[in-house]
Amino acid sequence: MRKVVLFTASSLDGFIATKSGGIDWLFTDADYGYKRFFNSIDTTLTGYKTYKKALSFSEFVFPGKANYVFSRKKRRPDPNVTFVSRNVPAFVRTLKKEKSGKNIWLVGGGSINSVMLNAGLIDEMIISYHPIILGGGIPLFTDKSRESEFTLVRQKLYPSGLVQIRYKK
Ligand SMILES: NC(=O)c1ccc[n+]([C@@H]2O[C@H](COP(=O)([O-])OP(=O)(O)OC[C@H]3O[C@@H](n4cnc5c(N)ncnc54)[C@H](OP(=O)(O)O)[C@@H]3O)[C@@H](O)[C@H]2O)c1
Repeated sequence: MRKVVLFTASSLDGFIATKSGGIDWLFTDADYGYKRFFNSIDTTLTGYKTYKKALSFSEFVFPGKANYVFSRKKRRPDPNVTFVSRNVPAFVRTLKKEKSGKNIWLVGGGSINSVMLNAGLIDEMIISYHPIILGGGIPLFTDKSRESEFTLVRQKLYPSGLVQIRYKK
């Protein structure tokens, strides 16, 4: 079965963005395995706020993938994405079972990460901890999270001080 993999960047104090949604701190010269990971997936899952942030970039950031954006509201159609308002866990379970293909990237943000964690739907996490303290912001898991144990798969330390940790359920 296809795996759902949360691939994300976090500050050392566990934030994925500043309070105002700022993510400038995560763009560096290095790739940190992003291209390889991008080639390993064919589907993305994104919360509406992260999608909105992605729209501020000059190009669409997930070309050539099946992109699902979760929102409870009716949104203006976008040919690059499919909006999903119904039960998120049920939708993702169906996606995992019914469609063959590559792995599924859980892009985030913190709100959708919590929904997916609490539904037991995160199979793997690849978290790149940047050597920065933000002092506040949007947490990796925004809502109350259920206790969930993961097992270390591998760790990689980069000269920049970034530590990338891969966990599986
Ligand atoms: N560091 C990183 O690698 C990284 C990765 C991803 C995101 N981010 C950052 O994280 C920030 C956004 O995170 P966030 O936690 O504020 O928001 P988010 O998870 O991206 O989006 C939240 C929105 O998703 C929709 N949603 C949430 N639960 C839902 C459900 N059960 N059913 C249907 N729709 C649901 C709602 O949209 P509606 O209000 O439209 O209903 C909600 O407002 C952005 O600044 C982004 O840049 C950083």
